[in-house]
Amino acid sequence: TAERIKDQNPRDQFKSQLGFIFAAAGSAVGLGNIWRFPYITGTNGGGAFVLVYLICMLLIGVSLLLVEFTIGRSGKSNAIDSYRKIRKWAKWIGFLGFFSAFIFLSYYSVVSGWTVFYSIQSFFGLNGLAPDQMGNFFGAFISDPVKPLLYHGVFMALTVFIIIKGISQGIEKYTKIMMPMLFVLLIVLVGRSMTLPNAWEGIKWYLTPDLSKVTAGVWIAALGQVFFSLSVGMSGMVTYASYLNEKENLPKTSLIVSLMDSAVALLAGLIIFPAVFSFGMEPGAGPGLVFITLPAVFAQMPLGSLFSFMFFVLLAIACLTSSISILEMPVSYLIEKFKLSRMNASLLVGAIAYVLGIAVSFSFGIWGDVTFFGKGIFDLFDYFGSNISLPLGGLAAAILVGWFWGEKEAVAEVSNNGTIQGSIVKIWFPVVKYVVPIVIVLIFLSNLGILKI
Ligand code: PHE
Repeated sequence: TAERIKDQNPRDQFKSQLGFIFAAAGSAVGLGNIWRFPYITGTNGGGAFVLVYLICMLLIGVSLLLVEFTIGRSGKSNAIDSYRKIRKWAKWIGFLGFFSAFIFLSYYSVVSGWTVFYSIQSFFGLNGLAPDQMGNFFGAFISDPVKPLLYHGVFMALTVFIIIKGISQGIEKYTKIMMPMLFVLLIVLVGRSMTLPNAWEGIKWYLTPDLSKVTAGVWIAALGQVFFSLSVGMSGMVTYASYLNEKENLPKTSLIVSLMDSAVALLAGLIIFPAVFSFGMEPGAGPGLVFITLPAVFAQMPLGSLFSFMFFVLLAIACLTSSISILEMPVSYLIEKFKLSRMNASLLVGAIAYVLGIAVSFSFGIWGDVTFFGKGIFDLFDYFGSNISLPLGGLAAAILVGWFWGEKEAVAEVSNNGTIQGSIVKIWFPVVKYVVPIVIVLIFLSNLGILKI
């Protein structure tokens, strides 16, 4: 019958290796790299943080990304079923990702909407404002009850549009255009920033590690950043990898994606810090760094609106290639489990996340006083998403692979039955079995405030 024929249709797949690399790197590169990384670096002491971040990325990040890729490609179905195929209980790792995806998508889309607004505003003269008015301007915009919802809607619609088109005609096609654009814009902006007067001060502050600043807290911050930035722990990468064929070299791909992700974060720092120092601003300004400090810098620069426009377009593109990976995760499950059409599944998840996002947006304004567990709605979502759900998902996936799946099967899958060799393949399993769980438990305890460092 029709149902059966539909079931037997081959799943959509990434058409090329490069297409998959762009899609996965697109998922990784986003607010995490361009908005979060610079301000976390700014508040954690500069160069020392950068060094620790790179160590965590290489040791933990690459391994966990490889865990998700491996589970996805071996399962060849939505994340929940991919986990279930390894151990029955492990479907709960997938369900955790499924629910977190709604939370992530809602607030990710709200903040991404801000970047769309800032792109348009830069074009039409955000730079008419004096530098010291940027804070008020930002505050007035995000607390408005209506305006941010419009941009949240535009951004969500774009995300849904791409996902309705599917894997090869949607995700692969669009990330293949957007990622190279992003790299070009990045390089132009780095060039502009590094040639500003006194740029060197910023570069020095940013890239000279002052080892006396490496505290346990810096390690924790760096690890959390690696999780968020690489999109691991929510099974988004499991989902993407489920659309891969057997030939793909997963160890190489996870290394390339991690390197691209770190490169974009490092370049974002090279845009922001030279500019911030050149204009005598504060690198440790926190989350407002990109929306308040940077526009203030642009406002004082020749051709500032042009560079401001380029920067926020860059950020919006990076957001879009990430948000589609968040949306695809639950959509793939709804399609395969409930036989929804791709269109209906995408619209359904997009609509629910949009409504949740309204609450997130209100929490910057009219619902500013609403708190749960002592946190506003945005903070609650961000805290649950980044500090609880991602580490928990990553921990569970590492335990599943290290302690249940077992070395023989896991390594056979990672190495395409022994045809791929090399140091990543060799150290991967012991790192996943021992190092990753221990380190995540440490982050976790400290985030819950149980471990005071
Ligand atoms: N990695 C994305 C970023 O850096 C965020 C993200 C997290 C995407 C989890 C998917 C899953 O912005």
